[in-house]
Amino acid sequence: MKRLFLSLLSLSAAAALSAQTLEMKMNVSRLGAEIQPTMYGIFIEDINFAADGGLYAELVKNRSFEFPGNRLQGWSVGGRVELKDDGPFERNPHYLRLCYPGHPQKHTAIENNGFFGIGLKDGAQYRFSVWARVPQAGQSARLGIELIDRASMAETQVYTAAEITVDSGDWKKYEVILTSGVTDPKATLRIFLNSPVAVDVEHISLFPVDTWMGHQNGLRKDLAQALYDLQPGLFRFPGGCIVEGTDLETRYSWKNSVGPVENRPLNENRWQHSFKHRYYPDYYQSYGLGFYEYFLLSEEIGAEPLPVISCGLACQFQNETMDAHQPVDQLDCYIQDALDLIEFANGSVDTRWGGLRAEMGHPEPFGLKYLGVGNEQWGPEYPERLEPFVKAIRKAYPEIQIIGSSGPNSEGEQFDYLWSEMERLDADLVDEHFYRPESWFLSQGARYDNYDRKGPKVFAGEYACHGAGKKWNHFEASLLEAAFMTTLERNADIVHMSSYAPLFAHVEGWQWRPDMIWFDNLRSFRSCSWYVQKLYMQYCGTNVLKLTDMEGANVTGADGIFASSVYDEDNGCIYIKVINVSDRPREVKVNFEGLRKKDILTGVEAVSFHCDDPDAENTLDEPYKIVPQTTSLDFEGKTLETTAAPKTFMVYVIRK
Ligand code: AHR
Repeated sequence: MKRLFLSLLSLSAAAALSAQTLEMKMNVSRLGAEIQPTMYGIFIEDINFAADGGLYAELVKNRSFEFPGNRLQGWSVGGRVELKDDGPFERNPHYLRLCYPGHPQKHTAIENNGFFGIGLKDGAQYRFSVWARVPQAGQSARLGIELIDRASMAETQVYTAAEITVDSGDWKKYEVILTSGVTDPKATLRIFLNSPVAVDVEHISLFPVDTWMGHQNGLRKDLAQALYDLQPGLFRFPGGCIVEGTDLETRYSWKNSVGPVENRPLNENRWQHSFKHRYYPDYYQSYGLGFYEYFLLSEEIGAEPLPVISCGLACQFQNETMDAHQPVDQLDCYIQDALDLIEFANGSVDTRWGGLRAEMGHPEPFGLKYLGVGNEQWGPEYPERLEPFVKAIRKAYPEIQIIGSSGPNSEGEQFDYLWSEMERLDADLVDEHFYRPESWFLSQGARYDNYDRKGPKVFAGEYACHGAGKKWNHFEASLLEAAFMTTLERNADIVHMSSYAPLFAHVEGWQWRPDMIWFDNLRSFRSCSWYVQKLYMQYCGTNVLKLTDMEGANVTGADGIFASSVYDEDNGCIYIKVINVSDRPREVKVNFEGLRKKDILTGVEAVSFHCDDPDAENTLDEPYKIVPQTTSLDFEGKTLETTAAPKTFMVYVIRK
C-alpha cells in the first residue's frame, strides 16, 4: 500500500504541470546512481515453442520416441516397425526396430514432420544423425535418408537424399550431411529401410549445420542473433511457471538438462495443458537446450546468467491445495539442487558438478552471481520455503545474490506482504511481474521514485503492455513500455534488473501474446517491443543524470511526457530519453546546468521511434516496418530546444 500511495501522490503532482513548452533541467556535473550492467536483460521460457521448436535448432520432434501416451507422436510409419524399450539410453529407453517387410517390393519407412514442418533453406546443409545397430551382429543394413516435399506426389518430391550403412551389432552414432536444393518451410524427413535386414534406430536428429556459433546441438542462428543484437546485461532462465511445473513431477529439473543430450529425459511442458485452443498433448521439453547451453549462450551474448530454481511449490495457478507442494520439512533435495547448480556453474573441475561442466566442454567457471528461488509465488507458503534456501545458500555461497518474488500482482495486499517478507529474509532482489493494460503503464511513470531505498533491490522480471481489445505487439504498447522504463532508469539506485516477457513465440505454436520476437520455421521478426528494449540497452549509460522540470519534479507522464536521462562515462555522452505518448507535438527544452568552462555540449544524434498508426506492428512479411530512425542532432550550447513529436520515443545523444 505504502508503495502505491506514494506513486499516486507524485502522479497527481505531475498532472498539475503546465501544458505549454516542457522546460527541464539537468546538472551535467552531478552524476547520480550507477547503472548496473544487469539493468536491462532478457528472459527465456519454453512457452510458445520458444525452445523446442524455436531457439533450440533441433528439427525432429519426438526424436527419442519418448512422448508419453503415444511414443510415435510426430512420426508416420509404414511397413513393419516395432517399438522397443531396452535402448542404449537409460532415461530415454524407447527406440524403433525397422524390420524387413518380407517382400522386396514392400517398404518400411518412417517420416517426421518436425515442429509445424521442417524448415529448409536453399543451399543450406543439415546434419542428420541417428543411433543405430543391426539386431543380428555380423549383418549390415542400409538406411535411406531423405528430405522431401510431403505435399507433392511428384517424383521430384525428394529434395535431397543420402544413405547410411549400419554395420554393427553395437549401438553407434551415424551421421550424414544433407544439402538442400530448395527453400521449404514445411519439409518432411523420411527414413527408408533399403535392405532386407532389420535396423534399430534411436535419437534421430536433424540440425542445420549453420547454427549459432556453429555449435552442434546448437541454437537457431537468426533467433540467437536477435538476442545478441540486444546486448542484454542479464539472462533469466528457464522460467516462469516452467520452473514450478503443472505438478512437482513436471517442474524444471536442471539436473535432467545436462550431460549427454541423448540421455536427458523428456519432461512434460508446463504450457502443454494451459491453453485449450492449442492441440495437446504435443508440447514436451527435450531439455536439449539445457543449463549448459544456457550458461554458454549467456557468456556468448555477454549477459549475466540468472537461473531460477524450484522452491518446492508447484505452479500455484494450477494447484489450489497444499498437498500439491513439497512439505517445508522435506525440502532438502530441492535445496541440494540449488547448491549443486551453483557448483555446476562455478565449482572447480574436481567437484562432481564442476567436473560435469568441464566434461561438457567448459572447464572455466561460468561466474554465476545470481540465483532466483521460486518464480511467481505467493502466500505464506512461499517465504516459509524460501527461508531454508536462503540459509543454506548464504552458508555455502555467501557471494551469490538471491532473488525472491513479489508474486503475480503489481501492487496490493499480497504484493506488500511479499515485499515485507523478502525484506525480513534479506533477499538481495525482489522479482516483480506486471502484465498490465495501457492505462496501468500510463500511470506508472513514477513507480519507483519513492520506493524504500533500504530494502532489497528491484528486479522488474516479467512485464509487457497488454493492449485492451485485440491488440498485441502493436506500436503503441511498445511506446508505453518505453514510457514506463523511464522510471526504471531514473531509479537505477534500486532497480538493478529488468526483463520483458515472454521472449519468443512461434506463429503457429503460440499460447501467450504479446511476445518480443516472433518466428516461423525459417523467418523471424523483432517486435516494436524488441526495438524499445534495444534502445534502452544501447543507450544504457553508466550513471543516472537527474532530469526534472524547472521545479525539480520528475517528468512522469503529465501531459503525456515521460523523460529520464543518463550519462555514459565510457564515451562522455548524455542520453536523454523523452517519450511523448500524447497525440500532439510538445515543445521540449532541456537546460544544462553545472557546466564547467571547458565543458562543451554538442549534439551527436537523435533517434526517433515512431509510427503514424499506433495499431501497426512488425510482421514476418514486413519485419522492418517500424524501426528507429537516426538523424544527426544539430545542437551546441546550454539549452536543447526540440519538439517531441506525437506518439514518439526519442533518444537524444549529446557529447560532453
Ligand atoms: O511469461 C509467461 C508467464 O507469466 C510466466 O511463466 C509466469 O511467471 C507468469 O505468470
